[in-house]
Amino acid sequence: MNSIKEFINGNKERYISELKEFLKFPSISTNPENKKDVYQCAEYVKWHLDKIGMENVTIYPTKGHPIVYADWLNAGEGKPTILIYGHYDVQPVDPVNLWTSPPFEPAIRGENIYARGSADDKGQVFIHFKALEAHFKQNDTLPVNIKLIIEGEEEIGSVNLEDFIAQHKDLLKCDVVVISDTAMYDKDIPAIGYALRGLCYMQVELAGPNRDLHSGQFGGSVENPINALANMITKLKNKNGKILIDGFYDDVLPLSNKEKEEFKKLPFSDEKYAESLGVAELFGEEGYSTLERIWARPTLDCNGIWGGFTGEGAKTVLPSKAYAKISMRLVPNQHPDKIEKLFTEFIYKIAPQSVKVKVYGLHHGKPAITPVNSKWVKAAFDSLKKGFGKEPVFIREGGSIPIVVTFKELLGADTVLLGFGLPDENAHSPDEHLNLNNFQNGIITASLFYNELAKL
Ligand code: BES
Ligand code: ZN
Repeated sequence: MNSIKEFINGNKERYISELKEFLKFPSISTNPENKKDVYQCAEYVKWHLDKIGMENVTIYPTKGHPIVYADWLNAGEGKPTILIYGHYDVQPVDPVNLWTSPPFEPAIRGENIYARGSADDKGQVFIHFKALEAHFKQNDTLPVNIKLIIEGEEEIGSVNLEDFIAQHKDLLKCDVVVISDTAMYDKDIPAIGYALRGLCYMQVELAGPNRDLHSGQFGGSVENPINALANMITKLKNKNGKILIDGFYDDVLPLSNKEKEEFKKLPFSDEKYAESLGVAELFGEEGYSTLERIWARPTLDCNGIWGGFTGEGAKTVLPSKAYAKISMRLVPNQHPDKIEKLFTEFIYKIAPQSVKVKVYGLHHGKPAITPVNSKWVKAAFDSLKKGFGKEPVFIREGGSIPIVVTFKELLGADTVLLGFGLPDENAHSPDEHLNLNNFQNGIITASLFYNELAKL
């Protein structure tokens, strides 16, 4: 086993230069103008998987962006089959002027590689590619059967993946799913995730007068839809951070006392956290600690709001329309479809007669909880301990990976969340980066993990 670790450590520079090639594709799934780039990135994934020795590498087109599948199933009698899931699509880069170096020109500064997708999720997907490659190069074989699906629509809610899984149940049949698309707890504290929040993402549109009006000639006589929308948004939550939508909390699974105790044992400082975010004080739902708020409580946030005049300088206008994008992070056992219905009803209830309202869902994801006592988790625990030289902690995750629940429902497989990012690596924001030591230790951990799984 030492030899594979030595091999991995001897290839650090090559890994980084190859990762840079992967990071150069502007595979922004939500931008129609990047459709071709997303496709080319899928072709790169296929090419790379072929190159390292995977078999049956196939690009499956979907109604949206393609899914790349690969497998290697020659581990022999009795060996488990591991399905590795990840995504090659990335979030938009705006505001691009806030990036220190261009988002698709990967740059090394200090211990980090900077580029959109470096942490979320190309860098973490690449960790598995390189761990598999190391096994092939060192041993000409893999210790377990591996299936990979790397999709191009995770950042837009995995809109076509569920159908794909439903249509390819045999192809994807596996004993366990492994996902590296989450974060460690802290720089030197590896972690195993056991819960993800879900998402219900809504758009609200208000129409007032039939055209933009001179705010002097008409102002005061007719409702301004932006004012009305702002008013409505303030009715969604009270000043103690409680969401006021009727029935919103009905299905929330409360945290057990044991979990609360476990959270308390983790090193965490509200002061340092506030300081790192540049805020004078924290704000959240009354009665819950920061980790509880992030990991185990639902939220409601306005992601964007627009309408009227937003250019430079001033224009006196009473706008005809107002828009807002509002998302809710959900926790077990809330269901996004039910929350969409409750949200929609509430919006109609609080809207003034003076505006026309349109509400619709953009994308959704179900919250997930995964078992912590399985043999798979034990294998992950042992390999993280060896790979990072530190015992991992068990954490929940505030983010969402919608497909985790689908894997359970359609394939009957549990997921192990083996994350190698860090919470402060700016996923979804400017200057996203990945710590290269974690990248390297991640490759070692993943290669050890496949060995551990082979023992089961
Ligand atoms: N990698 C994230 C999910 C994540 C981030 C999990 C941090 C745990 C900690 C993933 O790529 C992501 O961003 N997912 C979206 C899903 C949404 C579009 C349905 C999210 O959470 O916003
Ligand atoms: Zn993401």
